[in-house]
Amino acid sequence: MYTPRRYLMCPPAYFAVTYSINPWMDPAKPVDLPLAVAQWESLRDTYRSLGHTVEELEPDPELPDMVYAANGALVVDGRVLGARFAHPERAREAAVHREWYRTRGFAEVREPEHVNEGEGDFAVTASWLLAGRGFRSSPLSHPEAQEFFGRPVVGLDLVDPRFYHLDTALCVLDDTRDGAVMYYPRAFSPGSRAVLARLFPDAVIAGEADARAFGLNAVSDGHHVVLPQAAVGLFEPLRERGYEPVGVDLGELLKGGGSVKCCTAELRG
Ligand code: ARG
Repeated sequence: MYTPRRYLMCPPAYFAVTYSINPWMDPAKPVDLPLAVAQWESLRDTYRSLGHTVEELEPDPELPDMVYAANGALVVDGRVLGARFAHPERAREAAVHREWYRTRGFAEVREPEHVNEGEGDFAVTASWLLAGRGFRSSPLSHPEAQEFFGRPVVGLDLVDPRFYHLDTALCVLDDTRDGAVMYYPRAFSPGSRAVLARLFPDAVIAGEADARAFGLNAVSDGHHVVLPQAAVGLFEPLRERGYEPVGVDLGELLKGGGSVKCCTAELRG
């Protein structure tokens, strides 16, 4: 079901690939910054044209990965679980996000005890929090999130380093129904795959090529699914289920190992 959303994004004014903390990042490969900015602006404008509100976070010249705003926190029912980054290169982003929430009137802002990379590894369904582990977020962040939000956490083991965050391998399509997700099974351990098959028998199953194009790194408002346009194999299965896929090109931001969802934090409630 479509509902208007509120998103937080951070302009890629200082985006660069100067270090490598995931297999997509190659500091030897040049980044076209004006193109990255144009692609990001077109994503932001796409959300606005769909009726959503987009807030902007001030970028920091020393934090080139800040454009991936999804990693800064998880917000559900207006409660904010801050992030704690796995890599020192991104550590300072966590405080910038917490400060933003505090000054915007979010009353409950928790500085977490355990490593978690926000919506990179947490996804929200109608009843559950789906939580990734294996590369970034600590398994201990799962009970911490369950306690903080009072929602059952389903832990999922990521096994392929190319899909190092849950949001590179799975997308919630409708957060008012539990069954509505799409995912790439081979990013998960056999046991987690079985869990996903049990919870989501009607899921859209993505193939390797669409996963590599970051097709699962998508943002849905319950009707429109904004996703990388290169993930061509996902468009028909989405339409068959009544969704409207909206393709965008974030090719420059892919060089940092992120796409649509990585650039978009959702402010829920
Ligand atoms: N370069 C960033 C990192 O490796 C990309 C983060 C992508 N964000 C995401 N939500 N998957 O941390």
